[in-house]
Amino acid sequence: MKDYILHQSSYITTNIKEILEDIKIGLRIHQELFPKEDTTWSYPKYNTFSLLAPSSHFWNIFQELKNLILTNIPENNELWLQSWINYHDQQDLLDWHDHEYPYHGYINLNCEKTETIFESYTIKNKVGQIYFGNGKNKHKVVALENFSNKRITIGFDVHTIPTSRLYRTYNEKPFYNLGFIPLV
Ligand SMILES: [Fe+2]
Repeated sequence: MKDYILHQSSYITTNIKEILEDIKIGLRIHQELFPKEDTTWSYPKYNTFSLLAPSSHFWNIFQELKNLILTNIPENNELWLQSWINYHDQQDLLDWHDHEYPYHGYINLNCEKTETIFESYTIKNKVGQIYFGNGKNKHKVVALENFSNKRITIGFDVHTIPTSRLYRTYNEKPFYNLGFIPLV
C-alpha cells in the first residue's frame, strides 16, 4: 500500500442521519459503562462495533471497512481491529501523534470543516470518507472554521500478528486490551 488510500462510502452518506442516532445511543451506553471517560482515550476498553451491536448500520459499515482493509494490505490472516469513537469539540481536536499499530484509519461521520494534516500530505475531511494508511504517519486535526457541533469520527487500528513493525513486538498473549476484535 502507498502512504494511504481514501474511500468514499455512499452507504454512510445515504444513512448518515440514522447512523448518528445509533452513535448517540452508543455514547450514552459508553458513559454508563465508563463514567466521565473520554471515548477516544478509553479505546482499550471497548470496540465501536461491539458497543453499537446489533445496529444494522454498523454491521454494514464493518463489512465495508473489512473489505477495504483486506483489499489494500498484503497480510491476510490473524488481523485484529481496534476501534473507538472520537467525539470532539473544536478545542479537543488531536494534536500531532501517531499510532502504535501497522495500519490506522478513520471514518468521517460529522467532520465539520476540518483537515487532517500528515507530515507529507493533507486530507480534506468529508462525511462518509474513510481514510486508511500506515500507522506510523504522524498527524493532527485542524479546524478551518470555528464550529460548535461535535466532530464525530470512528478511529481504528489494525494489528498484524505476530509482529507489529512499529515500536514493540507483541507475543500472542492477552494484555488487558478489550478494544481488539478479530478481523480475519
Ligand atoms: Fe490519530
